[in-house]
Amino acid sequence: MSTVDILAIETSCDETAAAVVENGREVRSNIISSQIDLHTLYGGVVPEIASRKHIEKINQVAEEALRVAKKKLSDMDAIAVTYGPGLVGALLVGVSAAKAISFASGIPLIGVHHIEGHISANYIENKELEPPFVCLVVSGGHSHLVVVRDYGAYEILGRTRDDAAGEAFDKVARAIGLGYPGGPKIDKVSRQGNPQAISFPRAKVGDAVYDFSFSGLKSAVLNYLNSCEMKGIPVCQADVAASFQKAVVDVLVEHSMMAVEESGIKKFAIAGGVASNTALREALADACLEKGIAFYHPSPILCTDNAAMIGAAAYYEYKKGVRHGYDLNAVPNLKLGESI
Ligand code: KG4
Ligand code: ZN
Repeated sequence: MSTVDILAIETSCDETAAAVVENGREVRSNIISSQIDLHTLYGGVVPEIASRKHIEKINQVAEEALRVAKKKLSDMDAIAVTYGPGLVGALLVGVSAAKAISFASGIPLIGVHHIEGHISANYIENKELEPPFVCLVVSGGHSHLVVVRDYGAYEILGRTRDDAAGEAFDKVARAIGLGYPGGPKIDKVSRQGNPQAISFPRAKVGDAVYDFSFSGLKSAVLNYLNSCEMKGIPVCQADVAASFQKAVVDVLVEHSMMAVEESGIKKFAIAGGVASNTALREALADACLEKGIAFYHPSPILCTDNAAMIGAAAYYEYKKGVRHGYDLNAVPNLKLGESI
């Protein structure tokens, strides 16, 4: 079989990224230009600044992806790009760049769903992994429990009703003075804290057993901080972080294992920025071991936003014959399993 080389582009949030991926699983280059330092000044991602930075960086990042991969643009079989969900202005930069490259070179264009990219990150380091498997997708904007029936075929079992898991991490981190981005900072500080110190709620969503709700937990942390301040009790940052993290991890593990059991599928994967969380990975590894389930997880650098995962997802679309026209547009609220 001849190789399929894909140049993939990702600009849905605050990373300008490009990668060259061969046959969906071999990453030849994975260039990520992060804007985190810039947004840290404002305590979160500022959409207009993100778009402007993407415009400044995209050509350079795409050229570097080809250079590091030691490939020419003419070697590529497809140009893949994230077209949703995400920040509309940020997505538009990647989509416009990909369309321009595709139009100028005559190489076909493939639009990719960002979450499908996160899930596909698992294929890169686990060459033997094939659907069906159950996947927990936890990022800054999404929390989904999904059965991956086949490449590109998803059955959504549960989703968040309010804040995404990463959003809760970011908000709680800000409240306890850790700043942006909150997830990695809570992860680190928690190692010095006691996860049993404070009992925060494990929210259940009555009628939908697989759904998540994290805004109540976030409010419980804020209430705890307020009451400490009113009573003049000193707050132990590490204990709050560890106890909050434990509450999130407990719910994610419980729902995931319920889904695995119900589905009868013996393979479980995680994806998205929060999937790089140390405590979550350890707890899921233990739970899967206990149940005899194979546990798959991308390396942390492939959990957070990158273009290699977009190239992996695009390969399976390419094989199905999916090609997009130059009317491809950014779709900020694109739903999983709803491609155009
Ligand atoms: O997947 P991602 O890079 O972007 C989105 O598609 O949203 O996820 C970013 C989110 C942020 O909310 C960040 O705080 C969280 O992932 N995150 C973490 C960790 N690393 C990143 N959350 C918990 N623990 C981590 N180690
Ligand atoms: Zn993401």
